[in-house]
Amino acid sequence: MKKLSLLLCGCMAHLLSVAQTTKPALALIPQPVKVTQTTGEFVLPKTVVVEASSSADVANVTAYLKRKLSTATGVFVTVKSTAPTAPIRLVLNKTADTLIKTEGYKLSVTPKKVVIRANDAAGLFYGVQTFFQLLPKEVEGLEVAKGVKWAAPAVEITDYPRFGWRGLMFDVSRHFFTKAEVKQYIDAMVKYKFNLLHLHLTDDEGWRVEIKSLPRLTEVGSHNVKKVGQFGTFTPPTADEPRTYGGFYTQEDIKELVQYAKDRFVNILPEIDVPGHSLAAVVAYPELSCTPGADKYVVNSGEPFMDWSGPHNRAIVDNTLCPANEAVYTFMDKVITEVAQLFPFGYIHLGGDECAKNFWEQSDAIKGLMAKENLKTMSEVQAYFEKRLEKIVESKGKKFMGWDEIIEGGLGPNAAVMSWRGIQGGITAAKAGHEVVMSPTTFAYLDYMQSDRVNETKIYASLRLNKTYSWEPVPDSVDAHLIKGGQANLWTEQVYNIRQAEYMTWPRGMAIAEDVWSPKGTKNWDGFFSRVEKHFPRFDEAETKIAPSVYDPGFDATLNADSTLKITLTNEVNGLDTYYSFDNSFPDRFYPKYTAPIDAPKDATTLRVITYRGKKSIGRMVTMPLAELKSRIKK
Ligand code: ACM
Repeated sequence: MKKLSLLLCGCMAHLLSVAQTTKPALALIPQPVKVTQTTGEFVLPKTVVVEASSSADVANVTAYLKRKLSTATGVFVTVKSTAPTAPIRLVLNKTADTLIKTEGYKLSVTPKKVVIRANDAAGLFYGVQTFFQLLPKEVEGLEVAKGVKWAAPAVEITDYPRFGWRGLMFDVSRHFFTKAEVKQYIDAMVKYKFNLLHLHLTDDEGWRVEIKSLPRLTEVGSHNVKKVGQFGTFTPPTADEPRTYGGFYTQEDIKELVQYAKDRFVNILPEIDVPGHSLAAVVAYPELSCTPGADKYVVNSGEPFMDWSGPHNRAIVDNTLCPANEAVYTFMDKVITEVAQLFPFGYIHLGGDECAKNFWEQSDAIKGLMAKENLKTMSEVQAYFEKRLEKIVESKGKKFMGWDEIIEGGLGPNAAVMSWRGIQGGITAAKAGHEVVMSPTTFAYLDYMQSDRVNETKIYASLRLNKTYSWEPVPDSVDAHLIKGGQANLWTEQVYNIRQAEYMTWPRGMAIAEDVWSPKGTKNWDGFFSRVEKHFPRFDEAETKIAPSVYDPGFDATLNADSTLKITLTNEVNGLDTYYSFDNSFPDRFYPKYTAPIDAPKDATTLRVITYRGKKSIGRMVTMPLAELKSRIKK
């Protein structure tokens, strides 16, 4: 017995020493520049002293650290400006560390202490974010978690961002999201080191920012008729349906949001989308369109009003401002004056995308403007408008930015371009020496479906996680320093609530975060996805919704000679098994496993599939009608 217990003790000791020397796999997103794992772990004491400077910027970091640590762990946190033996120290470098520049940090975790060093408070904030990712998932929780060992593995990290512009765009016009919901969105994005929130504040479906000198913009432009279902297909609202759906941010709300974002090292880029996408403004001030008439216009609720079928979109209802009308520039001056005062960020985005020209073409005022200014095409008419806006923006001490359509009729001298129709606009603008932010549909459109359309809220295109992860924001052949960075865009025509906004943003937002933060040439899909999976439970703790679409298989089909289908399934995630049925029942791992393209039985109507990792089902059951697959085969 004695011998046995000695033997057991020996084994245990051996196991313990193995446990101590085997380094845990870290799951940091975005992947830092350099990570060296060392031995042991830091365990959070019962009461935590944080040593940090009391400057206002650093106080934001310590307030964040304190709030999150005490919420999840229940420990008592005090912050002191001098406490050299404190277990957590945030140190602002007295002499700049040129390697980590702005926003970078060095994080050292040893069994004794955690030290974060940076040149600026933003760098300390990102060091804190990385430290949180080293702690157990429960640190993301909204209440004190019991029975958790609050330990972080020992590590030395040097990290800094690849780009200074790391953004997400949130369309709060197509559907209105409350101030609290925008804050919730910011809370999630800062965990992945995004530093820019682009708010798409105006569109055909609603004007969302109070402009005190133009009260009708929000009095009548901020509400429409509530419609639920498939946006773009709704029946036109009738006169007796209440126009009570929507909302707007007062100037006080905007100040609060700007401050909330700033405290988390996020700038807010305001976008006022003109001269197209302007129906809400035209409803408020119909005289600003080339086809005035007070009773003609209503704020759109998702009923069709644009024809997108041709090479150039045509407006069925005139949703444009009239570049030939001087009152439009007076109007824009008022808007830009107030927007410039509200948003401290250096850029104002004035849209410029998808402007229908068909009402301009019929306008005598536009013909007069073209003759007077020697403008040959409608693109030149738009360019005339954009250049005048650029001057107004610059007169308020800001930089002018627009979607890549602003290049078409000739770009203003200092305009910055956001490239969305692929990368060509960005390339053209950068080659002409303009600043560029990349946000191409092909990699960065978060409104696109994340897996097969049978499984997703329908929209006209798809963008899977692995494609998002494969994005390289700097096109070959352009001067990299003109590419300020990148962002992903969440349009919300089909996003009715914040849960769906989160579903559309995550996990793709993690891929975008890595695209714009981590060094070029370090990507590895399998490695990335294994880290992403470790973050899924963290999202659950934070009660932030994520899409499980990455586990849905992709479907492809061809026709056999006898008109049955040959179906190919693909998995985005490696190492999964897919089981299927054609008999309308619900497959599990005791069903046939997909190993090669499968022939659908002659009279079958439905293919059902489910993916497993080993014995564990993963993702969701996908039901694919065979008629749907057949309809996709090109004749
Ligand atoms: C855009 O997606 N219309 C910029």
